[in-house]
Amino acid sequence: MNVLVTGGAGYIGSHTCVQLIEAGMTPIIFDNLYNAKSAVIDRIEKITSNRPVFVKGDVRDKQALVDVMTNHNVDAVIHFAGLKAVGESVEKPLEYYDNNVNGTLVLADAMREAGVKHIVFSSSATVYGDPASVPITESFPTSATNPYGRSNSWLKNV
Ligand SMILES: NC(=O)c1ccc[n+]([C@@H]2O[C@H](COP(=O)([O-])OP(=O)(O)OC[C@H]3O[C@@H](n4cnc5c(N)ncnc54)[C@H](O)[C@@H]3O)[C@@H](O)[C@H]2O)c1
Repeated sequence: MNVLVTGGAGYIGSHTCVQLIEAGMTPIIFDNLYNAKSAVIDRIEKITSNRPVFVKGDVRDKQALVDVMTNHNVDAVIHFAGLKAVGESVEKPLEYYDNNVNGTLVLADAMREAGVKHIVFSSSATVYGDPASVPITESFPTSATNPYGRSNSWLKNV
């Protein structure tokens, strides 16, 4: 199975690529290297003796996504390409919405055009705020994470 891994040069994405290779699948890494280095591809090769295809590109670039999915006969997508720093997201909300929300919409549109129907989306436990207990389950109420500390009382002050 050929799996397009957006953000595949990042922390979770690169580890996922190693696991995919070890499970006999073929990851195709698509990453703009905003928060990663291309040396990650060398490390994946060193660990697995298998060098994944790497395409430098941005998930807001629909044509680049359609091209990579078509050229590599992609069967499924795992979507890790995103910005994830809670504090920075408060300082730069428009940039985060553009990268994360718009990027995901463009990816979905490109998948539709390329006929790719399977996606795993990497969300974040931060959507549950500070949970009342752990482990968190998907039925927990969503909330916000305080970028300044543990309590959510900051929400009342902004
Ligand atoms: N790190 C964690 O503990 C954790 C836990 C759960 C979920 N997640 C989620 O998994 C995803 C990846 O997290 P991570 O920790 O690996 O982050 P990361 O920053 O290491 O990886 C994200 C990768 O996406 C790339 N990227 C960002 N914007 C892009 C764009 N517009 N186009 C193409 N590539 C782009 C970056 O260059 C980077 O390589 C995030 O959505 C994060 O919220 C992370």
